[in-house]
Amino acid sequence: MMNSAKKLRLLELTVLFFLFLSCCSTCSAWFGSSSNNNKHKSSSNTNRRNSISPHEHEATSSLSSSSFLNRFHGHSSIMLSVHGNVYPVGFYNVTLSIGHPPRPYYLDIDTGSDLTWLQCDAPCSHCSQTPHPLYRPSNDLVPCRHQLCASLQQTDNYQCENPNQCDYEVEYVDHYSSLGVLVNDYYLLNFTDGNRLKVRMTMGCGYDQVFPDSSYRPLDGMLGLGRGKSSLISQLSGQGLVRNVVGHCLSVHGGGYIFFGNLYDYSQLTWTPMSSRDNKHYSTAGAAELVFGGKISGVGSLVAIFDTGSSYTYLNSKAYQALITWLKKELGGKPIKEVYDDQTLPLCWHGKRPLKNIYEVRKYFKPIALSFTSSGKFKAQFEIPPEAYLIISNMGNVCLGILNGSEVGMGDLNLIGDISMLDKVMVFDNEKQLIGWAPADCNLVPKFRHLSI
Ligand SMILES: *[C@@H]1O[C@H](CO)[C@@H](O)[C@H](O)[C@H]1NC(C)=O
Ligand SMILES: *[C@@H]1O[C@H](CO)[C@@H](O)[C@H](O)[C@H]1NC(C)=O
Ligand SMILES: *[C@@H]1O[C@H](CO)[C@@H](O)[C@H](O)[C@H]1NC(C)=O
Repeated sequence: MMNSAKKLRLLELTVLFFLFLSCCSTCSAWFGSSSNNNKHKSSSNTNRRNSISPHEHEATSSLSSSSFLNRFHGHSSIMLSVHGNVYPVGFYNVTLSIGHPPRPYYLDIDTGSDLTWLQCDAPCSHCSQTPHPLYRPSNDLVPCRHQLCASLQQTDNYQCENPNQCDYEVEYVDHYSSLGVLVNDYYLLNFTDGNRLKVRMTMGCGYDQVFPDSSYRPLDGMLGLGRGKSSLISQLSGQGLVRNVVGHCLSVHGGGYIFFGNLYDYSQLTWTPMSSRDNKHYSTAGAAELVFGGKISGVGSLVAIFDTGSSYTYLNSKAYQALITWLKKELGGKPIKEVYDDQTLPLCWHGKRPLKNIYEVRKYFKPIALSFTSSGKFKAQFEIPPEAYLIISNMGNVCLGILNGSEVGMGDLNLIGDISMLDKVMVFDNEKQLIGWAPADCNLVPKFRHLSI
């Protein structure tokens, strides 16, 4: 379990658990790992809940009503530039302008969960140090019986302690959590057609966060981009502002961009259907087979979830074992040797000299791939070249960025994290229920006449 905490993380616990029950049989491992962290939850749940007293704001009547603007901007898109990298930063963030007047916040992009939340001065009982002053909640509270509130609860007949307030709690696989209340506030968004709109959105005011390890992340909150009702993309498309399509392009060199709406010509991408069973995550309907260096590995039936909330990729125990066995065999006789004193990741190799970049050793590694089939119709290959599964550690070794998911309690699931989506345009089309990808240089941001990011 060597520093599994370091490389995070995110995926909502409850949903993953659901999926696990519906498709797998070995539930005990999952139960085991999730109950460890219930301590904080069960003992302090009631105490942690606050009645928030929103700060007064000036009237917001002068803001553009997005429903009014729908008619004019129905088919535009939004694009935001992204900062960060897989290693050493470990996450990607965007800047959003939120509030009235709008203030900037750095948000971690997470396609593995739905709710967007900011560390919040409600007042805050547990917040980390944030790059910007804490968000002060609007007085526009979401009522407890609202459909977005309902979409975030574990059961349909949830308790409403105060009917005017929606309490939420989200927990992620790596035991991060945020507890708070839902509020509505305005996001200032630049559209690709040149329009700049204030859009009223529902988000979390998180006044009690749990950050279980010491890895500090300079972030103001989380940007939830999942398939659920509360996610940013569901809300934007619900208001008719963009199509229900979200995508990203994360660069091997760091940075990149995310987008909402339809930006790409569908014929340029490879597509596979999205699962209809797991309706919160971007998981594939068809099972994939692992391909090592162009050869079928014999490890099949892999369910894959694409998740920017995880910096590394996780394979289930069987697939991971097959990968390690193949890699060790492939590297036999090559001038790179396994090292045991690099704690960056579980498996690292050193070259003759300390390495500076992946291209010095790329030739020793072959591409791997996930090959998807579904009802015999689609055959889509998701290529993972060496730079999408290796990193160069700060000790100058090359390390494997694919980890054993069984070791962190993910059971049979396979999580495709940031590292394996590098230098690809990834598109999640919630209307057509398709996941698409194509190789791309993510440092080359598409240009729009009216927008530069
Ligand atoms: C987060 O994004 C901002 C700009 O949007 C950037 O200045 C900052 O360095 C980023 N944080 C990290 C850790 O990359
Ligand atoms: C939106 O556009 C304005 C100028 O029109 C620019 O100053 C601002 O930085 C842009 N915001 C984002 C998030 O790109
Ligand atoms: C992966 O993790 C599981 C569960 O901890 C363990 O039983 C298995 O041996 C691990 N596989 C490898 C190749 O380390």
